[in-house]
Amino acid sequence: MFSRFTQAIVRPPARNFANGLTTVDLGVPNVALALAQHAAYCAALARHGCTVIALPADSAHPDSTFVEDTALILPGRGAIITHPGAASRAGEVHAIRDALASFFPELPEITTPGALDAGDVCEAGDVVFIGISERTNADGARQLAAWLARYGVAARLVDIRRTPGILHLKSGVVALDANRLLSIKALAGHAAFADMDVLRVPADEEYAANSVRVNDVIFVAEGYPLTHALLRQAGYALEPVAMSEFAKMDGGLSCLSLRF
Ligand code: GLY
Repeated sequence: MFSRFTQAIVRPPARNFANGLTTVDLGVPNVALALAQHAAYCAALARHGCTVIALPADSAHPDSTFVEDTALILPGRGAIITHPGAASRAGEVHAIRDALASFFPELPEITTPGALDAGDVCEAGDVVFIGISERTNADGARQLAAWLARYGVAARLVDIRRTPGILHLKSGVVALDANRLLSIKALAGHAAFADMDVLRVPADEEYAANSVRVNDVIFVAEGYPLTHALLRQAGYALEPVAMSEFAKMDGGLSCLSLRF
């Protein structure tokens, strides 16, 4: 059974969003357009059953719209605050801790030397895949795995440091159901996914891998017709979302909310 979400924490991009981190060369984001795309994303979350909790924009942290990286939530069970792997993002966790405190009285955290961005965490039912990346190290993964074990959730590691073109594990692979993934070809055959049904993102549409299941639909980036067709053929209803400005800053659909 895949979790149903009733809440989503979001944070609109700040005026200096373009000063955030990026590894891609897609141009400078238009902040006004990013705000419009963010508003449309929030409206879609609300349409699909989520109460949207919007934190104020934070210009001290230009990447802070990517709230997903700051916490890992097991809906109805617990939450843990992460330790983001980029120094410029470390301070993002404070506002998220405050926002989650009324829902989760106990909020443990990943501590140094551990580093972990929750964009590297792909939850698929009672298995969670943790990417080892430029942002998430082995100690961060070990701490998260120990916390997950308290809830009977098993962790499997996926080293993505040699997989070109993806910042986080979930830039390349997401769960559509408890036993079904959507993955870029470069990761689809990974041993950690051997017992999963893996749908492969068509060539040249790798960005569309970062879709996100929100209750009865899959949010998927607009402009990737082959991936849309693949998902529809597999029986999913889609909610296409314009993401051009977030893609310029290495961000995907899942990064924009914390869902629980
Ligand atoms: N711009 C998103 C990140 O680098 O974390």
